[in-house]
Amino acid sequence: MKNFIELNHPLISHDLGIMRDKDSSPAIFRQALKRITYQLFITATQELNTKDLMVETPLAVTKEKSVVGDIWLIPVLRAGLGMVDACWDIYPDARVGVIGLYRDEKTLMPQPYYQNLPTFKALDTCFIIDPMLATGGSALAAIEFVKQKGAQTISLLALISAPEGLKIVHDAHPDVRLVSAKVDEKLNQVGYIVPGLGDAGDRIFGS
Ligand code: PRP
Ligand code: URA
Repeated sequence: MKNFIELNHPLISHDLGIMRDKDSSPAIFRQALKRITYQLFITATQELNTKDLMVETPLAVTKEKSVVGDIWLIPVLRAGLGMVDACWDIYPDARVGVIGLYRDEKTLMPQPYYQNLPTFKALDTCFIIDPMLATGGSALAAIEFVKQKGAQTISLLALISAPEGLKIVHDAHPDVRLVSAKVDEKLNQVGYIVPGLGDAGDRIFGS
């Protein structure tokens, strides 16, 4: 699939083992999520816009790069909040906008309840972050919100994706770069990812 990357690394599998375990505590779950998010964000930022920067070391003048435009992290509430810190560790100047959505348990349709997004500038890069991409409804809504605000360069970072949701999002927005740590087997009849890890928000927040 074009514009899609699935991470494949032994440490991802190690941490997914921790996160999938139904007996892992919220603290252990959050730590593993943070470690995987480092890899997701590093991978997703590989093609960032940069400009040349001349820098004087104590020994010589050399050329490096500096990031052009603002980097925006857009966590989808609630569970996306669990990925913000890891991205900030890697790029502390990242700005944050938020989108509040929950899935209606019966229809599985995303219900928007809060938004705090800027009007994006041409050189800005947006990273929508949410651990779970299941039916794809929440991701579609989030992408549409950021596009309405002018975002032109968008990546979606998901810890675990269902093949069904991934295809829907990719078909609707082939310009959006999708980065997922793992594509799982399928969705079950009530829209949960199998084998998955259960409700990501509940597991992060202990609710
Ligand atoms: C979860 C998850 C995604 C959404 C994915 O959020 O964090 O946002 O479900 O499902 P979808 O692809 O079928 O739309 P949830 O609705 O459980 O809200 P929460 O994070 O507040 O618990
Ligand atoms: N949201 C979750 O948190 N988990 C799933 O498996 C599907 C949607």
